[in-house]
Amino acid sequence: MVLIGPPGAGKGTQASRLAAHYHIPHISTGEMLREEVKVGSSIGNQIKDCLAAGNLVSDQMILGLVEMRLQQKDCRLGFILDGFPRSQVQAEATQTLLDRLQRPLDAVVQLIMPDDEIVTRLSYRRICSQCARPYHLLFNAPRNEGFCDVDGAPLTQRSDDTEDSIRNRLHVYHRQTEPVVEYYRKTPLLKEFSAMGEVNAITQAIILALGREAA
Ligand code: AP5
Ligand code: MG
Repeated sequence: MVLIGPPGAGKGTQASRLAAHYHIPHISTGEMLREEVKVGSSIGNQIKDCLAAGNLVSDQMILGLVEMRLQQKDCRLGFILDGFPRSQVQAEATQTLLDRLQRPLDAVVQLIMPDDEIVTRLSYRRICSQCARPYHLLFNAPRNEGFCDVDGAPLTQRSDDTEDSIRNRLHVYHRQTEPVVEYYRKTPLLKEFSAMGEVNAITQAIILALGREAA
């Protein structure tokens, strides 16, 4: 399945819960790219400023990374793509790739959120420096202030969670990613959900709508 929605809509939050429910991997292209920056690879050095500014990296680069990832063994029973595809070119290339791999999509889950809520959500986000689990200082605070509940590592703020970058990501979403939603609207795959409810209620609504329990 594909999870699509504006920055801060809860794609990562929902994808990790759905991945646990369906026992399939959560593939976040944003996380893959941040990992490249973290380890200081040559890709990481090329994209560091682009990520911090909130612009999309090239279609060619992301398509190469996703194609390699989808061919790994753990994707055999399914996968959740979080934040990919997010341009018309990526959507069309994904269709070609999945046809070639004989892995058709079952669903495209869109999380809908008003623009004015997004800056508040993201300004208060913190992520674990070790496992990247997201927290929110108001809605989903860690038990120990400043540290991850799971592994105790310090929480940090993402380089693109500044007000300027958040506003640019939102602009990029409207301009480059909304056409992808329209692309999937022409298929029976698209299912829309409000991103404004309680986290667990949203997960349950998605599972109910997908209408299929994990094997
Ligand atoms: P990416 O990492 O995908 O960032 P994004 O799309 O901006 O989305 P976020 O990760 O910020 O938000 P989210 O929807 O995952 O929300 P979360 O669950 O964390 O991409 C980053 C960058 O990588 C891009 O800008 C681009 O440069 C590059 N990139 C990635 N993919 C690419 C591609 N395909 N092509 C080209 N470039 C690409 O939740 C947000 C906060 O809200 C958290 O604090 C959370 O705890 C809280 N929260 C979640 N749900 C709820 C709820 N229901 N109620 C209250 N709080 C909630
Ligand atoms: Mg995310």
